[in-house]
Amino acid sequence: MKHLLSLEKLPRADFEKILRDAAVFKKERGQHQTQPLAGQTWALIFSKSSTRTRVSFEVGIRELGGNVMFLNANDIQLGRGEPIKDTARVLGRMIHGAVIRTFAQSDVETFAEFSKIPTINALTDDEHPCQILADIQTFEEMRGPIAGKVVTFIGDGACNMPISWIFAAVKLGFELRIAAPKEFQPSAEILKRASALTQAGGKIICTEDLAAAATGADVLYTDVWISMGKEAEAAERIKILNGYQINQKLVRLAKPGALVMHCLPAYRGKEIDDETFEANAGTIFTQAENRLHAQKAVLNWCVTD
Ligand code: CP
Ligand code: NVA
Repeated sequence: MKHLLSLEKLPRADFEKILRDAAVFKKERGQHQTQPLAGQTWALIFSKSSTRTRVSFEVGIRELGGNVMFLNANDIQLGRGEPIKDTARVLGRMIHGAVIRTFAQSDVETFAEFSKIPTINALTDDEHPCQILADIQTFEEMRGPIAGKVVTFIGDGACNMPISWIFAAVKLGFELRIAAPKEFQPSAEILKRASALTQAGGKIICTEDLAAAATGADVLYTDVWISMGKEAEAAERIKILNGYQINQKLVRLAKPGALVMHCLPAYRGKEIDDETFEANAGTIFTQAENRLHAQKAVLNWCVTD
């Protein structure tokens, strides 16, 4: 039984296999010989909004031969307080796999444990593994292997995206620089867990110095300043994160031809300016498209030996 609950727990060989398969799924879209989800029904159980993740999983599951149902967590008894472990035991007797977007990482882990069906993390407060898989697929198709390269993340360095980037960097062997204000640096605990997993070439640098972090980078990457669930802190976050923005001034410090990436949705004028966003829309919307291909590779990996 395989689950994708985090990049932290994804073995390096599986990480690399999913990336290889994602490229094949992209190339062969519409001509798949196998239907690994034939006869299966998967559920998407979402407690937070989604455009890309929801649509790419719904399309991907169908393209692999499966049926799919979308369950807004508020419409099922889970939203009225039924425990996740009971929800998991019910669904585990009826469906073949689950894709979950929620708040606590422990909820996807509990669901996987009690449902006994393949479970995929479609974003928690701690990690967004599917997004990073698509992002690395995008980088590698445009620039070749990511090992040895420099990725600079700018913005809220304590949210799910940079945490998943941290575990990707230590496993795949690239340098990750996180430029964030001191209030939004990754926790010491995450950095300690990552250092225990570090492979050759993997390196994490955390700094408040935006310019130093951007200098010579192969990728400038950002994410929203106000993650889902943090709306009550919006005013405070905007004040503290002000200036941690990808713009033309910052792009000029990066390596010539550096990629500018964004997981989306984007808030222009906050984490990225409009000019820089539009100049890099080709890359950014390829990241979005690659969610479909990367997640088909994840689904296939979950159900095959
Ligand atoms: N990037 C991402 O996960 O987008 P959605 O929130 O629209 O799914
Ligand atoms: N950090 C963001 C990612 C959105 C895809 C959030 O959690 O809202």
